[in-house]
Amino acid sequence: MHKDQHFVPGFSKKTRDEKLNYVVDNHLSSNEALELLKSFHHQDAKIQNLLEEFSENTITNFPLPFNICPNVLINGKSYMVPMVVEESSVVAAASNSAKFWFTRGGFKTEIIGTEKIGQVHFLWNDDVQLLINRFEELKEVLRKECFEITENMMKRGGGILDIQLKDFSAEEPGLMQLYASFETVDSMGANFINSCLEQFASTFKKWHAAQPEFKKDGLEIIMCILSNLTPNCRVRCTVETPINEFDNIVPGISGKEFARRFRLGVRVAEVDPHRATTHNKGIMNGVDSVVLATGNDFRAVEACAHTYAAKDGKYTSLSHVELNGDLFRFEMEIPFALGVVGGLTSLHPLVKLSLELLDNPNAKELMAIAATIGMANNFSAVKNLVTVGIQQGHMKMHLLNIIKQLNIEEVHRNAIVEHFKDKVVSVSAVRNLAEKWNLIPAEKVK
Ligand code: MEV
Repeated sequence: MHKDQHFVPGFSKKTRDEKLNYVVDNHLSSNEALELLKSFHHQDAKIQNLLEEFSENTITNFPLPFNICPNVLINGKSYMVPMVVEESSVVAAASNSAKFWFTRGGFKTEIIGTEKIGQVHFLWNDDVQLLINRFEELKEVLRKECFEITENMMKRGGGILDIQLKDFSAEEPGLMQLYASFETVDSMGANFINSCLEQFASTFKKWHAAQPEFKKDGLEIIMCILSNLTPNCRVRCTVETPINEFDNIVPGISGKEFARRFRLGVRVAEVDPHRATTHNKGIMNGVDSVVLATGNDFRAVEACAHTYAAKDGKYTSLSHVELNGDLFRFEMEIPFALGVVGGLTSLHPLVKLSLELLDNPNAKELMAIAATIGMANNFSAVKNLVTVGIQQGHMKMHLLNIIKQLNIEEVHRNAIVEHFKDKVVSVSAVRNLAEKWNLIPAEKVK
């Protein structure tokens, strides 16, 4: 083994504190590291235990800011939306946008569907037509033998919607799949779907073995797993306003000019995948922060949104603008699977609180809220980009961070912000000013 390679046997078997000490003793330079890591343990041992149960090999917690976006009007109802995000301008951008649209009818959303997908991938080393001929019969057996798993979900209005046979043998010899669609109501559905799929696989094997017309070794199950691509679990989000409502949205720019530039800004993202990636990243800033605050799986949401953005063979913008006479319409469609029951939703105390803050939405309402915050972020980002530029907004946050970093007292903050209103912000510029104004106490200079 190379001298830089250290294999640590049985790390997961150690206790939390053994792991903590091991990491500090062997991989961190200072003793302060231990204190730092410990200082992030929750003071309530019960909550700390709960957090540690979510994952493997936890040694401490990693806090992120829990923020509020007020005044989000969706379908006539206003929300205070929790956003967990560390990027300084995201909440400000969403809030500005929410405030602007609050008095202009707010955001309108429509759930286009809630269908989730799961697949059993298998090799069929036999005559495909034989399987096609018997598929309706197999489908019934699959549904019947899954009843124990689906019974409760069916009582809640969900269950298996359909099972189809898909043939990929042109791309890989024998490759086929059971492509199943599900309704999982208020749960994201991952566990439910994966359990159904594994049951499908064992039923399929058993059923296959009992059919004399099939070759004995004609079926090989490869794997069973849900698909995070859920194009038919999708929400549409819209805002609409007469163009003159944009008069002076940015000082000195007419509503008409703003709308023209905004449309062009979105158009660039429709045309160019490089811009589309950043444009959609701005949407996901908002979406993910709500997804995180409500204990949902942001990786699944990301994967789904970006694949959907490439559904026509080219990666493009998830949002679109239409200028119709004097009417401006901004629209976004985004698919993702969210849950308000199961998973972290009833375990993490702050997730429960987030859902309460949102008036305990059902899964469809939560989809609408997350999409709306994504669109709110997108509106602010494009608005700034095509007018004053992105740095103006970012720089104020950057400036506040520099002020903190230089240990300048809070009382001087406003004067410094005022000074930099029309100047370029940099650490050295702020330091020079602070020295000139005598704002950095000698003992605090880093
Ligand atoms: C930054 O996190 C997000 C933006 O880059 C999005 C965009 O460019 O549209 C501002």
